Amino acid sequence: MPPLFTVGILGGGQLGRMMALAARRLGCRVWTLAPEPDPPCAQAADGHIRAAFGDARAALRLAARCDLLTCEFENIPAAVAEAVERSGKAVHPGGAALKTAQDRLLEKRFLRGLGIPVADYREILRRKDLAAAAREIGFPAVLKTARGGYDGKGQAVVRGRGEAEAAFRTLGGAAGNALVWERLVPFAREIGVVCARNAAGALAVFPPAENVHRGGILHLTLVPAGIPRGTEARLRALARRIAGGLSLTGTFCVETFLLPDGKVLVNEIAPRPHNCGHYTLDACETSQFEQHMRAVCGLPLGSTRLLSPAAMVNILGTGAGDRLIGAAQALADPAVKLHLYGKQEAHAGRKMGHLTALGGSAAAAARRALAAHGKLAWARAGGPGLSAPGTGDKEAA
Ligand SMILES: Nc1ncnc2c1ncn2[C@@H]1O[C@H](COP(=O)(O)OP(=O)(O)OP(=O)(O)O)[C@@H](O)[C@H]1O
Ligand SMILES: [Mg+2]
Repeated sequence: MPPLFTVGILGGGQLGRMMALAARRLGCRVWTLAPEPDPPCAQAADGHIRAAFGDARAALRLAARCDLLTCEFENIPAAVAEAVERSGKAVHPGGAALKTAQDRLLEKRFLRGLGIPVADYREILRRKDLAAAAREIGFPAVLKTARGGYDGKGQAVVRGRGEAEAAFRTLGGAAGNALVWERLVPFAREIGVVCARNAAGALAVFPPAENVHRGGILHLTLVPAGIPRGTEARLRALARRIAGGLSLTGTFCVETFLLPDGKVLVNEIAPRPHNCGHYTLDACETSQFEQHMRAVCGLPLGSTRLLSPAAMVNILGTGAGDRLIGAAQALADPAVKLHLYGKQEAHAGRKMGHLTALGGSAAAAARRALAAHGKLAWARAGGPGLSAPGTGDKEAA
């Protein structure tokens, strides 16, 4: 029997790896394209084309072997996706959605255009825009690069004009990079909504998750988030409008801030599976990765039902070594699942894996996940020195 589909994944990271594992369970073949020699996704794929993401010819070679392509991160050059689309193969997300999602300014204009509330912001295209933003929006604020940021990189909290000038320089504003000046939102909670939309326009929404960040990097996700029904309905409606507006096919996430008065602001859109949806692998009837494959292959979407309250903790590198110790101790709790991504080097703040725990409540699951996380440490191959995962995020921020 031939494979159900052969899927090409642009990008080599852990999201691609977990997509590939889901695709293979469905009997699909998987090829990946990434510049690294042995990226996490290639370890789970049938084949790997080693090429730069900007190499349109390589992407066309990938497309020639596959029925369709998908992107596991949004910084694939839109022109490359468009070249593949012109060749007659689908790419999800396609060039148009990538363009919007990889530029915070375009993304915010798009959201505003749909009437979706976002944090007050100003576009900083030149140095003199700083003074106007300081006057009109004020401090504290977050300055972010319009393009290329992730895991809190490419942004700085500024509390005065001096800091804003300094951040303008360190973020590359003086070199011509567009920046966004955002009000620092005094949110009560951060909520991520992972959804999937298939080509027929059907939308499936996973249970919204509460996210806790540390140093700008996701640390902990708790589900259910325990938000009011009305808020959940509003989140679903927002997600539907965003997916329709971007013509998204596949899994995507809407990151939101819940304000103390109950209002919702959209922070950003990720047009792909998201770190805060990793809990679905162990706690939902269908994972966000299987859902993504179903959506991009034109299959019906699966049930998003939550089977148990759950919590997910990221395992970050610390820079203290590349050898993870304590896995057996972490797994001594039978409610704990360990996912490692096959990365060779555990730089400070690098996402190396995650732990998910199930429990009677999200809080109980979080206690178990954090206890398991506390058993892990990084060490050098032969040398002394242990450091606990999750303590390296300061260096990375
Ligand atoms: N305007 C803001 N007000 C308050 N907190 C903010 C604001 N912008 C960002 N943050 C905090 O920083 C985190 C990371 O910001 P953001 O999502 O914009 O960047 P990112 O680098 O793309 O992150 P990721 O790749 O993890 O999604 C947010 O989840 C939030 O905790
Ligand atoms: Mg974010």
